[in-house]
Amino acid sequence: MARQTLIAGNWKMNGTTDSIHELVMAINAQLESDWQSEVLVCAPAVYLPLVIDLTKDSAIEVGAQNLSEQAAGAFTGEISGSMLADIGSQYVLVGHSERRSLYGESSELVAKKFQAALDNGLIPVLCVGETLEEREADATMKVVRAQIDTVLDYGIDVLGQGVIAYEPVWAIGTGKTATPEQAQQVHAEIRAHLAQLDVDVAAKIRILYGGSMNPTNAEQLLAQDDIDGGLIGGASLKAEQFIAICKAAG
Ligand code: 13P
Repeated sequence: MARQTLIAGNWKMNGTTDSIHELVMAINAQLESDWQSEVLVCAPAVYLPLVIDLTKDSAIEVGAQNLSEQAAGAFTGEISGSMLADIGSQYVLVGHSERRSLYGESSELVAKKFQAALDNGLIPVLCVGETLEEREADATMKVVRAQIDTVLDYGIDVLGQGVIAYEPVWAIGTGKTATPEQAQQVHAEIRAHLAQLDVDVAAKIRILYGGSMNPTNAEQLLAQDDIDGGLIGGASLKAEQFIAICKAAG
């Protein structure tokens, strides 16, 4: 089954009005109408309206980096899925490893956020991945499966409405990329895990790779059978690098 490649930038907590304006205009200017891939940028929440406005006539899609699991109410500082949808966001990242490790988000909370995104018509991108210690202890699949299983508790059809991003923690922001073979193996095992529950969902769901993806390694990673795109941090802040990755995706 053909899965459309998704190239997603995660800007994390970076940018200013000026730098984001410049970045989006540069990406807009180079987006080719014949590109097969979907292009997404996940901006800091306060800049979402700016980015949505700057991309309103372009194919670039816009996502948030986090949302509350709650619908509304006394949750100071939080941003709900309905607010993100209201301003025109299409996607939202959930369970990024920085949220898990620095802000203590459990897989149970991440699953609630995944459901909250769907409840509001947003497409959640579920981030999963093992630490170096876990990889060295041969626990990669155990960890990744457990992170996915909390969403599967809501049903395979629920998970099937989102996207998965495999981001080995040891490859994030370190310049150390998983080899195409290492990444492909995990992606294939994720798909096989899902296929035990629903062959169609497994065949259809997009699994992105994230972790030091750059113009040099993107082509080989994206050529793997079960790698359906990239979630790009550092390189997504530089227009020419992000565009080069989009081009590598075709
Ligand atoms: P880097 O591309 O900077 O390694 O970040 C990856 C990431 O965390 C994307 O969500």
